[in-house]
Amino acid sequence: MALTDQGFPVAEIDTSRPHPARMYDYYLGGKDNYAVDRDAAQRVIDLVPDIVPMAQANRAFMHRAVRFLAESGIRQIIDIGTGIPTAPNTHQVAHEVSPDVRIAYVDNDPIVATHAGAYLLDSGNTGFLLGDLREPESILGHPTIDKLIDFDQPVGLMLVAILHFVRDDEDPAGLVAAYRDALPKGSYLVLSHGTNDFHRTNPGSSQARDVYRDRGATATLNLRSHDEVLGFFGDLDLVDPGLVQPPLWRPDAAQPTGEELAHIGFYSGVGIKR
Ligand SMILES: C[S@@+](CC[C@H](N)C(=O)[O-])C[C@H]1O[C@@H](n2cnc3c(N)ncnc32)[C@H](O)[C@@H]1O
Repeated sequence: MALTDQGFPVAEIDTSRPHPARMYDYYLGGKDNYAVDRDAAQRVIDLVPDIVPMAQANRAFMHRAVRFLAESGIRQIIDIGTGIPTAPNTHQVAHEVSPDVRIAYVDNDPIVATHAGAYLLDSGNTGFLLGDLREPESILGHPTIDKLIDFDQPVGLMLVAILHFVRDDEDPAGLVAAYRDALPKGSYLVLSHGTNDFHRTNPGSSQARDVYRDRGATATLNLRSHDEVLGFFGDLDLVDPGLVQPPLWRPDAAQPTGEELAHIGFYSGVGIKR
């Protein structure tokens, strides 16, 4: 039996239903997806072409936020909802600032596990575990976390483009609170989330949500408002510029135009625990 580098049987990779990780890979122009993912993702692109610039803007935010963490002195990061590796990944960005940053990657999609060995575990300071965001105790108590993360020192927790796959009845706010509570003072939460706040007049946007549901994707899309996303930070202090569309979060280049921003249905922010 063929095994992935995480000991996961390749034959158990489900190619009969679209997976959000593989659809996101398709939006970003990647090749690690199956026909069922491409069909669903292309349908979403046809309905909401903005999904492509949104995915790119989200990924660019992630890069800037990781650099910010490393430059702020964070030396250990838990990245839940890692995604299919697309260079640069979290550890590559962090290690440009400081090679001693340790990163624990977590995803519940076995396809991410299949690629972890080659692309995420190449530096010694990283680990990967197949785990579900909705099970904080099993993630926080996992031996890989135990090996890499010292909860007496500040931690960078990344929940980037993952919480919109958690339904309201699964208590996303309670789940994030469980992770926040485990973090010591001086820790950061990096979070981004899809929203319909900017596409309300586009009927395609609710149809795109239906694609995830109707095609039986392994997770549904749950877009949330600014206030709902802000609530995930609890009593953390948001660092400047607060919870904003990804291109507005500490941009490297010129500020994006209003026309560009109208296409980005995403919020992003970084909070610190004081
Ligand atoms: C849109 S991708 C985001 C990847 C990366 N964080 C980024 O922003 O570029 C979402 C990832 O979250 C993962 N995911 C979704 N629900 C999850 C859950 N309940 N537990 C763990 N991972 C999950 C998916 O498998 C996918 O890899």
